[in-house]
Amino acid sequence: MRKFTSVADIGDLHSAIREALQVKADRFAWEKLGHNRTLLMLFFNSSLRTRLSTQKAAMNLGMNVMVLDVNQGAWKLETERGVIMDGDKAEHLLEAIPVMGSYCDIIGIRSFAGLADRDADYSERVVEQFIRYSGRPVFSMEAATGHPLQAFADVITIEEHKTKERPKVVLTWAPHPRALPQAVPNSFVEWTVAAGYDVVIANPEGYDLDPRFTRGARLTHDQDEAFRGADFIYAKNWSVAQPDNYGKVLCTDRSWTVDSRKMALTDNAFFMHCLPVRRNMIVTDDVIESDRSLVIPEAANREISAQTVIKRMLEAL
Ligand code: CP
Repeated sequence: MRKFTSVADIGDLHSAIREALQVKADRFAWEKLGHNRTLLMLFFNSSLRTRLSTQKAAMNLGMNVMVLDVNQGAWKLETERGVIMDGDKAEHLLEAIPVMGSYCDIIGIRSFAGLADRDADYSERVVEQFIRYSGRPVFSMEAATGHPLQAFADVITIEEHKTKERPKVVLTWAPHPRALPQAVPNSFVEWTVAAGYDVVIANPEGYDLDPRFTRGARLTHDQDEAFRGADFIYAKNWSVAQPDNYGKVLCTDRSWTVDSRKMALTDNAFFMHCLPVRRNMIVTDDVIESDRSLVIPEAANREISAQTVIKRMLEAL
C-alpha cells in the first residue's frame, strides 16, 4: 500500500477487518517488520488519540518514530505555489516535503480543513502534495474531508459488537459551539456503507453532507425516526458542507443532543463517538457513561486500525 486516504485504498474491506482482528489478537507478532524503519508523523493540528495510537502502532511493529508539530517549532510553511514569500512563512511545502521524505520511510499527516475555502479543502491539497512529492508511502491521520483511520477503527468496533448480519447504523448530527470539519462523518458513511450496513444519516436541514461520501446511505431530517430500531448510534457535529455557507454554524439546536429518551427509541443501540466529545452538547452524561457506550473501545481500536495500515505499508516497501 503506497497511500491511505480513503476506503478505496484498503481493498477488500472484510479481509482488512479480518487482518485487523489478527493484529489485535497478537499485536507484537510483526515486531521485526519495522526494524530500522522510521515513521514520520506530522501534525498541523492538535491530537490526543491519533498521536498516541499511531505512535503505539508503529512501536508495536518495531519502528522508530519521529513526531513534528508543524505549527510549534518548525518554520511556518507556505502551501500556495506562485506566492511572493515576503510574509511570515519562511519555507515552502515544496522544499519541506522532499526534505522530510529523505529522513523517513513512511509519512503520516494530520491536516484539518480550513473551513474558509471549500474548493481548497475538498481538493485535499496538503495530503496530495505529500503523496506527489515525498517519495514515501503516505497515510492520512485526518485530512480536510476524511478521517479514514477513525472510520476503520469504527467499523472494527461495530464488527466486534454487532449481533445482526446487517445492523442499522445511524449517524446523527449533534450540536457544538464551534465550526467542525466534515471529515469524520464523511469517512464514517463511506466505510459503513462499504461494510454493508444499513446506514441512515440524520441531520438538520442545510447540513447534508457532500453526496460523493453518502452514496448508499439513507438521509433524513427527523432524528427520532432515524433512531427507531437502530443498533448503533454514532453522534458527531459538522459544519455546513454545501458551497453556500460552507464551514458555518447555522444551527445549535440542543434538541439534537443525544439523550436517554432518544436512545430508548432504538433497539438497545450502542452509542459511539470518535472523541473528543463535548458532554451535554453532543451527548448527555448518562448516555456516554452507560454500559452501551463504546467510546473507549472505539478509541482503543485506533491503535489496531493504524497498525494494520502501517503493517501493509511496511510489507510493500
Ligand atoms: N478521534 C480523534 O482523531 O482524536 P484526536 O483528535 O484526539 O486525535
